[in-house]
Amino acid sequence: MDNKLYELTLKRRSVRRYTGKAIDDKIIKEIMKIALTAPSSFGHRPVEFVVVQDKTMIEKLASCKRLGGNQIIGAGAVIAVVVNQDNGEFWIEDGAIASSYILLAAEQYNVGACWVHIRNRKGKTKSSDEEIRDLLNIPDNYRVLNLIALGEKAENKRSYKETDFDTNKIHYNYF
Ligand SMILES: Cc1cc2nc3c(=O)[nH]c(=O)nc-3n(C[C@H](O)[C@H](O)[C@H](O)COP(=O)(O)O)c2cc1C
Repeated sequence: MDNKLYELTLKRRSVRRYTGKAIDDKIIKEIMKIALTAPSSFGHRPVEFVVVQDKTMIEKLASCKRLGGNQIIGAGAVIAVVVNQDNGEFWIEDGAIASSYILLAAEQYNVGACWVHIRNRKGKTKSSDEEIRDLLNIPDNYRVLNLIALGEKAENKRSYKETDFDTNKIHYNYF
């Protein structure tokens, strides 16, 4: 059966090496439009995004994650996924689903993307979340769930194929 979304999900891989070229602003805008359409708990839409394109700022962001932060250096853009805590019960889920949309949207434009985790991670002296909020002027009632690095791909990962996945994990009616 024709299934364009499935084809896209098979092509999407975590890409961690980038050419360093800037990403066209129009493509970033299209990706971010898609991010806004993600579902959210109670329809509160608590997720906001900070798109960082400045190289020096990306390096500063990298240093906010003590282990593994450097992987974002070389990205054309880094998106901080930040979630308002005022109705915060489902903030992780809300941020995660918006992030998934970004990862798929990026692949649609053949832009490499990778989730870089921030929640419960350590920065230089404080938590990664606090250091990123300080750096990007994010208000206190927000938390940073993750960053998403975006960039022109400098590594070629094979697409997934149907047999990579275990259909036995899908249970019908009973487990
Ligand atoms: C919640 C979550 C946290 C992740 N954190 C990181 C991370 O900090 N750094 C990283 O390089 N990849 C991270 N990833 C990407 C995974 O490592 C990646 O999705 C997994 O290895 C499968 O590879 P694929 O995305 O190519 O299918 C994360 C993914 C998720 C969903």
